[in-house]
Amino acid sequence: MAEFDIQTVGLKDGRTIVIRSARDEDAEGVLQAIKLSMVDGQGMILTAEDNVTADDVKTWIKAHNGPKDVMLLAEHDGIVVGSIEFRIAKPRRCAHWGTISMAVSPGWRGSGLGNTLLARLLDWAISVPEITKVILAVRADNAPAIALYKKHGFVLCGCDKAYLKLSDGSFVDDLRMERFIR
Ligand SMILES: CC(C)(COP(=O)(O)OP(=O)(O)OC[C@H]1O[C@@H](n2cnc3c(N)ncnc32)[C@H](O)[C@@H]1OP(=O)(O)O)[C@@H](O)C(=O)NCCC(=O)NCCS
Repeated sequence: MAEFDIQTVGLKDGRTIVIRSARDEDAEGVLQAIKLSMVDGQGMILTAEDNVTADDVKTWIKAHNGPKDVMLLAEHDGIVVGSIEFRIAKPRRCAHWGTISMAVSPGWRGSGLGNTLLARLLDWAISVPEITKVILAVRADNAPAIALYKKHGFVLCGCDKAYLKLSDGSFVDDLRMERFIR
């Protein structure tokens, strides 16, 4: 995983969080944050029926095993309240781009944490000369996330039609967004 200094950040609502790299032993804390986000389900693809376990999360954290892979956690009083990850594409011919995903826990949204995490990640990506572009996927019905990504320079570059089928039988598209950083 890429090296990051631990950073303490004051949010616009006055609360303070610490941003640091994830470690294997954070699996349980990240799992609890994922479960909290599943409650309202905003922007989520996973549901409780997917039965994500701490071992699954540990495998996910460990997958950030290259020098251009990143997983950052935002922590408050030892509780994970947000995360952002970036993984560089593995085929050598694709190793100039990578994929971001992120989440902020309910109760912390609208505090500026999403802005803070994405800005930190993009600043890092801009500092790595080999990275040309950053891509991401976002549910077409996730207006807050789409607004956040547009604010940080991402533009729409594709759409997987009917990517999700919800429990009521309706379909939701998944958008692809990209930002060239050089
Ligand atoms: C999307 C998400 C990461 C944003 O994090 P956040 O901490 O709430 O965002 P911030 O408070 O930093 O707001 C950043 C920008 O997001 C947008 N935004 C945030 N909440 C919004 C809302 N309710 N409606 C519209 N835009 C919104 C705005 O552009 C905002 O910029 P502004 O502060 O200048 O208005 C967060 O809502 C979240 O984790 N949602 C659930 C999981 C998810 O959707 N992850 C992304 C999957 S692709």
